[in-house]
Amino acid sequence: MKNIYLNIFNNNKKNIKKARGILKKNCVIAVPTETVYGLAGNAYSNSAINKIYKIKGRPKKNPLIIHYYNLKQLKKDVLINKNFLKLYNKFSPGPLTYVLKKRKKSRITSLATSNLKTVAVRFPSHKVIRSILKELKFPLAIPSANISTGVSPVTAHDVVDEFGNKVKFVLNGRKSKIGLESTVIKLDEDVRILRPGVISKNQISKFLGIKIKFLKKSSQLLSPGMLKKHYSPGIPIKLNCKKNDNKAAFIVFGKKYKSNKDNFNLSVKGSLKEAGKNLYGTLRKIKKLKYKKINVVKITNKGIGSVINDRLKRASN
Ligand code: TXA
Ligand code: MG
Repeated sequence: MKNIYLNIFNNNKKNIKKARGILKKNCVIAVPTETVYGLAGNAYSNSAINKIYKIKGRPKKNPLIIHYYNLKQLKKDVLINKNFLKLYNKFSPGPLTYVLKKRKKSRITSLATSNLKTVAVRFPSHKVIRSILKELKFPLAIPSANISTGVSPVTAHDVVDEFGNKVKFVLNGRKSKIGLESTVIKLDEDVRILRPGVISKNQISKFLGIKIKFLKKSSQLLSPGMLKKHYSPGIPIKLNCKKNDNKAAFIVFGKKYKSNKDNFNLSVKGSLKEAGKNLYGTLRKIKKLKYKKINVVKITNKGIGSVINDRLKRASN
């Protein structure tokens, strides 16, 4: 049998060129980003986008985020506005995704945007994906590289773990620095946060000088990634636990927890940033060790802590 780790490629010049070549043929590859690894395909190609939905087993009504190198490329496909420009200048490239109105003449296939009138766009900062985007004449649809509703991958090996030989080209870009998916903000009419991320609602509110709310649950369809079950390792998870019970994996945080074979510490030094980076790898590890249950200590609901809690809550559904 072929060793599937042969599907992982170092990010040298030759392989980056090879990656572009595959994308130009409307085939799909896996790429690193600063948030999580993604499955990338030509956003202008029906055939490429079809492959992405198929590999992920993702419902077609759940639209993809389109990734651009810069504004110049973007303007052909979407209508931009003042709030977007302010946020773009402050936070992009980086882990912020903007939902904007799609242009009538946009070349983005309606399959990628689930026939919506809006498009979610992002400018990733990871240097590998940026160097790929810079030389392409089309933007890339890049959903997280996991089977639909599963845990997002943060390393090239995680991607192979998810898809085995179904994805033949995985570009290695080390462990994702942030480890949690981008913040999604809707800017087309009213301003709303659709998915929390490390760039927080308060940070954006303060910066724009307006009050921003999370999108109400009733309108969840707008961002299916906000649907209740998501990011799930497929094992029951209990939050806010004071102690562990027998045989369960115990996700802990901070130095007061002893190292013990069932304890998985997200950050011994008590850094939420480090905990965010380690969250998905820890869930994946626990699943591999075949635990039947996960208990999680109470994690402070501030800053990145609130993003960790958001993902854990959805994973526990
Ligand atoms: O950090 C990230 O954003 C990663 C990396 C790979 O860039 N990508 C990612 O993509 O998380 P995905 O497909 O796993 O999540 C995209 C989220 C979903 O919740 C989807 O419903 C929402 O964005 N979305 C996409 N287009 C939308 C639109 N037009 N309106 C509202 N939500 C949209
Ligand atoms: Mg995802």
